Amino acid sequence: MTAADLAAVLAIEARAHAFPWTPGILADALASGYYMVVLVQADEVLGYGVVQIILDEGHLLNITTAPQHHGQGLGRQLLAHLIQYAHDHTDTLFLEVRPSNTRAVAMYHAAGFNEVGLRRNYYPAVGGGREDALLMAMAF
Ligand SMILES: CC(C)(COP(=O)(O)OP(=O)(O)OC[C@H]1O[C@@H](n2cnc3c(N)ncnc32)[C@H](O)[C@@H]1OP(=O)(O)O)[C@@H](O)C(=O)NCCC(=O)NCCS
Repeated sequence: MTAADLAAVLAIEARAHAFPWTPGILADALASGYYMVVLVQADEVLGYGVVQIILDEGHLLNITTAPQHHGQGLGRQLLAHLIQYAHDHTDTLFLEVRPSNTRAVAMYHAAGFNEVGLRRNYYPAVGGGREDALLMAMAF
């Protein structure tokens, strides 16, 4: 991902998430040196992912595919790439996910992540209030 991809990424982010990353968060992430990739087909950005490395731990901060292309295997493909990157650079890859996000949870289980904890009231919830986060991890 480069600055040239930001508009396309933000457009997908706004459609795919109830609480999307802002342009500022995305620009900061890019400036921070996180591993950030876009999945491109026929010159069109269809998905992206972000991994932060802290010492020997990787953190999957974002994985998103364009809503009109969900269920076509793009998420699985993107995740496999990010896991390979984390495998090459870290000992463990962590992520947080909303338990209500059954599609993402199923994808992570299928990829080999284990549920290792719960973070109480981690996310803002639609309609107010908070939602827990499921903490998942894959050890290499
Ligand atoms: C989660 C997300 C990245 C998956 O991307 P995708 O391109 O739809 O994923 P794929 O088509 O590769 O499917 C991957 C797996 O997701 C699960 N999945 C896909 N569609 C599903 C559905 N309708 N119901 C339940 N599980 C589903 C399956 O486990 C699937 O693997 P399989 O095809 O081997 O059964 C995508 O839905 C997305 O961008 N969601 C919004 C952003 C988000 O929630 N990101 C994760 C935050 S932690």
